Amino acid sequence: MPGTRFTDIRRFDTIDSTNRYLLDEARAGAAEGVVAVAEHQSAGRGRLGRSWEAPAGANLLASVLLRPGLPSDQRYLASAVVALSAIEGVDATVGYRLGIKWPNDLLAPDGRKVAGILAEADLSAPTPGHSDVDPAIVVGIGVNVNWPGDDSALPDHLVGVAASLRQLVGGPVDRTELLGAMLQALEPRVADLGTATGRERQAAALAQACTTIGTAVRVELADTRFEGTAIAVTAEGHLVVDVGDGTRTVVAGDVVHVRSRT
Ligand code: BTN
Repeated sequence: MPGTRFTDIRRFDTIDSTNRYLLDEARAGAAEGVVAVAEHQSAGRGRLGRSWEAPAGANLLASVLLRPGLPSDQRYLASAVVALSAIEGVDATVGYRLGIKWPNDLLAPDGRKVAGILAEADLSAPTPGHSDVDPAIVVGIGVNVNWPGDDSALPDHLVGVAASLRQLVGGPVDRTELLGAMLQALEPRVADLGTATGRERQAAALAQACTTIGTAVRVELADTRFEGTAIAVTAEGHLVVDVGDGTRTVVAGDVVHVRSRT
């Protein structure tokens, strides 16, 4: 994408996972800004160890390599800026506004999932010979773009749970244009990660776009679960949940929207 750091765009017909590919490239010293895009992934990765499956040639499956030099407690902002850029890119391409279900899903207003994001960091020591390279964060996004107009192509468990942009806007969507608009929107947001005021700006934008705020949630962590009302996101992008007798701040974990904001 001219005028951005995302000029090295590598396209694959089939690959196991664009995230896996860029993590390996990062370990070998690849620079920030490399983008990998695939028509099909044979071992697409989802959050929490799940797999991510998508019909070949229909969706946007892309990963970006970032080296944002973020303080360790603010690394979530790297995936938040990709989520925000995807919202902007979708809006610019098809005039449709998605929201962020914290931490990493993009939802249509009716709650169906349109996109998921998986950030993976390589925090190991820099590769010998590349000691000046910041730790890498690879942020991958899968956007349901051109599934057919009805749900006939969907596995049963996704009917009513997931939607494609094509279904939502009533016609096919140009995936190349969408990727370009996303990368264009991502450039200033990634630049913001380099300063404290920029990070504050991105955390505020996240709070604005996050439809989890004001919603009753169930938070499922590795060893516990609790319910409450999501009330804010912190400057690090973490979710603050009112649990009745106080608040709890959630850094990671799966969040279920128990009922919609009224
Ligand atoms: C989720 O579980 O919601 C996150 C899904 C992330 C999928 C994308 S598709 C492109 C990139 N490569 C992967 O293997 N996963 C991410």
